[in-house]
Amino acid sequence: MSVRRLAPDAVQPASFAFDAANENWADQQIAKYPEGRQASAVIPLLWKAQEQHDGWLPRAAIEAVARKLGMAPMRVMEVATFYTMFNLQPVGEHFIQLCGTTPCALRGAEALKKVCQDVIGPQSTVTADGKLSWLEVECLGACCNAPMAQINFDYYEDLTPENFKALLEDLRHGRPTKPGPQNGRSGSEPLGGGETLKDPALYDGTVIGAGDWQRRVTEQRKAAAEAAAAKAAAEAEAKTAETAKADAAKADATPAAATKPATETAAPGRPKPSEPGQPTSAASDTPAAGGKVDAKSAAEAAKPAGGPADKPVK
Ligand code: FES
Repeated sequence: MSVRRLAPDAVQPASFAFDAANENWADQQIAKYPEGRQASAVIPLLWKAQEQHDGWLPRAAIEAVARKLGMAPMRVMEVATFYTMFNLQPVGEHFIQLCGTTPCALRGAEALKKVCQDVIGPQSTVTADGKLSWLEVECLGACCNAPMAQINFDYYEDLTPENFKALLEDLRHGRPTKPGPQNGRSGSEPLGGGETLKDPALYDGTVIGAGDWQRRVTEQRKAAAEAAAAKAAAEAEAKTAETAKADAAKADATPAAATKPATETAAPGRPKPSEPGQPTSAASDTPAAGGKVDAKSAAEAAKPAGGPADKPVK
């Protein structure tokens, strides 16, 4: 880890100010935070200041950010000197951050450092043409492709002294480069392509649990469906029984007369013609029981007793 100090006064600009576009951007960032918490925007604003000032933060930029956020300059200085994402020294057009942590060191980072020293010079110096500068940094999280370096915003991995030297020459002369592994492999796959997890049986899961899990899931789904069907049938049966019970209770509560045939309830109080012991009444037993009696029937009824009509029927 290199010492985090501000650049010498000789290279410090006299002043710094955000340009109009960045000033507007900074205001938008600050507006994201509640009143009184504007200091939360310190990292985005420092990052934007570094971007505007050719990739490094001069003292004037740190102080400008402090004024913008109403912070003590020392508080902003603490942030700028703590995070290695902020460059406190001038950098080249292509800024190389070479990983020197253990996995990269074991895979040849020391030889890459020697290339940097030979091609560029000591750390934190910029080549005379302004194209290249370099710095040793801690792990950049690409250990599986060690050794590696971050150049501006891209990772270059699987470096060797030979391909790294060629890469620096390409960058210096503006030739296109290809980020990622420099040895032809894809991502962090083995050279020549993947060698594991190639069995198609792995892709449908049949290998997991000795091929048992699919049968188990099928059985579980079937049991769940059967249980749901049984429950639905039981609920339907209970509902039917409940309806029948309600109907029966309703029928019991209804008066008997209401359920008798209409012929028995149509003329309440009227004597039945055939009922034994009831007095015979021609006026009421004739078909014209409503009171209208024809003349012949009336004469028959008026005959004195003992006539043929009163003879007992044998
Ligand atoms: S050790 Fe170099 S990337 Fe992790």
